[in-house]
Amino acid sequence: MLLKDKVALVTGGARGIGLAIVERFAEEGARVVLGDVSVEEGAACAHRLSQAGYPVCFTPLDVTDAGSISQALEAVIKNFGGIDILVNNAGINSNATVIQSDPAEWRQVLEVNLVGAYFCSKIVAAHMAANQRGESIIFLSSQAGKRGEAGASAYAASKFGLLGLMQCLALELAPHGIRVNAVCPGNVDTPMLDWLINDSAHQDGLPVSKARQALLAALLRTIPVGRLASPQEIANVVVFLASPLASYITGESINVDGGQLSG
Ligand SMILES: NC(=O)c1ccc[n+]([C@@H]2O[C@H](COP(=O)([O-])OP(=O)(O)OC[C@H]3O[C@@H](n4cnc5c(N)ncnc54)[C@H](O)[C@@H]3O)[C@@H](O)[C@H]2O)c1
Repeated sequence: MLLKDKVALVTGGARGIGLAIVERFAEEGARVVLGDVSVEEGAACAHRLSQAGYPVCFTPLDVTDAGSISQALEAVIKNFGGIDILVNNAGINSNATVIQSDPAEWRQVLEVNLVGAYFCSKIVAAHMAANQRGESIIFLSSQAGKRGEAGASAYAASKFGLLGLMQCLALELAPHGIRVNAVCPGNVDTPMLDWLINDSAHQDGLPVSKARQALLAALLRTIPVGRLASPQEIANVVVFLASPLASYITGESINVDGGQLSG
């Protein structure tokens, strides 16, 4: 087991990639706290996993609220006695050109994806450093954190920003023995993709099934391996980065994109 007895907090762990990370961490022997704004969904996932014998619990968490993050950290410490790993996974998407974008929505994407990850890292890293316990912080950036895309300015700005934050934090935490890295997924089959399809259908006045067909066909043309990623394929790389197998890796971002950024 790669993460035996490690304690991890995964933000946005109620579904999609976050849930796959929680499940893979638990399979690798970690004790996991799943934090999410989606309380019913998160609590149900944690209940299901703990019923299956995994030490997983849920805490309500809004990454845009520093008080909520401190409470989530307290819940981790109360349940499992400390924290070794933080995964900054919580995120939202947007789908509008700069000209058409709503400034409040634009700011909200930055607030959740970038400022939220900053606050979680600040609060958890301070605890790790003060207690001389802490091994790894991992950010979910994106291929949109390395290459721009029309209609994705807020999302891309937040994901490019995460890579800058990740590199600075890696330098600051290296003396404390804490490694800091990022994963840059391509297109992953999760509820976030469904949200994008629904939003495109709405904007283009198409039935959802037609919008799905059109978006998937367009995406698949750009993915060399010819398919979307599964959430588990992203989670496997997060497990690797959190584990001793990655003991000399810090300040790095790994593309998990089926070759998309190579084209
Ligand atoms: N799906 C993709 O194709 C893809 C590609 C690249 C990167 N990513 C990134 O991976 C991460 C997970 O994406 P996903 O596809 O699983 O998304 P998702 O929408 O399926 O799940 C996101 C989770 O984050 C939670 N969340 C949203 N706002 C929150 C907040 N303020 N506080 C706490 N939790 C909050 C949601 O409730 C949800 O459980 C995101 O950061 C996303 O940007 C996804």
